[in-house]
Amino acid sequence: MPSPKPWLKPAPVTPTTVGQLARQGQRWFEDAGICFGHGTTNARDEAIYLTLFSLGLPLGVLPEKKQVNGLDAARVRQVFIRRIKLRLPAAYLTEEAWLGPFSFYADSRALIPRSYIAELLLGSAPFEWPSTPKIRRALDLCTGSACLAILLAKRFKSTAIDATDISKEALEVARINLTRYRLGKKIQLKVSDYFSQLDTACYDVIISNPPYVRQRVMHSLPEEYRQEPEIALAGGKDGLDAVRIILNNAATHLSPGGLLVVECGHARSRVERAWPRMAFFWPLTSGGDDCVFVLTREGLLAGLAR
Ligand SMILES: C[S@@+](CC[C@H](N)C(=O)[O-])C[C@H]1O[C@@H](n2cnc3c(N)ncnc32)[C@H](O)[C@@H]1O
Repeated sequence: MPSPKPWLKPAPVTPTTVGQLARQGQRWFEDAGICFGHGTTNARDEAIYLTLFSLGLPLGVLPEKKQVNGLDAARVRQVFIRRIKLRLPAAYLTEEAWLGPFSFYADSRALIPRSYIAELLLGSAPFEWPSTPKIRRALDLCTGSACLAILLAKRFKSTAIDATDISKEALEVARINLTRYRLGKKIQLKVSDYFSQLDTACYDVIISNPPYVRQRVMHSLPEEYRQEPEIALAGGKDGLDAVRIILNNAATHLSPGGLLVVECGHARSRVERAWPRMAFFWPLTSGGDDCVFVLTREGLLAGLAR
């Protein structure tokens, strides 16, 4: 007998408690086999987040026994149903995504913030940045929603920041986030195909979370990831198209002693095979020590030299 699939029916208008509602969402998500990875990693956390957000409750402890009237409960169930039927990541349903304590506006014009570089900027992964006075100018290349540029600005208060992306649509989302954080003057947004519009600009730090998904992985992406802009994910046949461009051009835009910090997926072995003479440093993040590499300008030039 086929399973009942309650999310195919109209959302029931029955009163309940916050805890029961979250458990209902969790069961539905598990039964429907939806995919996670845009802020939460499992059905329970996703259901709790959507329940609390939809009820306008703080995103802290779940008030298990708090009563929810029938209409509000139906509204939350309707959100669960949309999550399942449309396979929309929760962040696109709620139009918000979180990196540590910072929330960002999110919609389908830009990738949902989740970069491991955020952990280095927030200090939740161990990493020694140069001292603030040494970082006068910084660049966030491939900025998308500007989430990393904003974290840069929060960490390095006196640094001038440029944030570039090829996608005008993504930069519209970036603009919303800059306005929210009142950083419209400190962070300059620019449309640019990688470094092409940066002239002779020189930076003490360049960070980048570029597109790095391999072609064959692109073909088998879960529906939730297909809701994000393809240009934000597709990294060419071996996933290293962007890394190649960045490594070949970054030195021109780095000041002496400048740092390049790039996220590349779990591509450490591929990257080290492709650039065997490059002295990469791979800081440990929650994704492991194969996701983000760091190079100094000098290390980069030495690694490129024949
Ligand atoms: C993985 S997303 C990262 C977005 C953001 N930095 C973050 O961490 O959430 C990659 C970004 O690279 C941009 N991009 C793709 N191709 C580009 C290119 N040729 N030049 C500049 N940006 C590009 C995409 O538009 C997308 O916003």
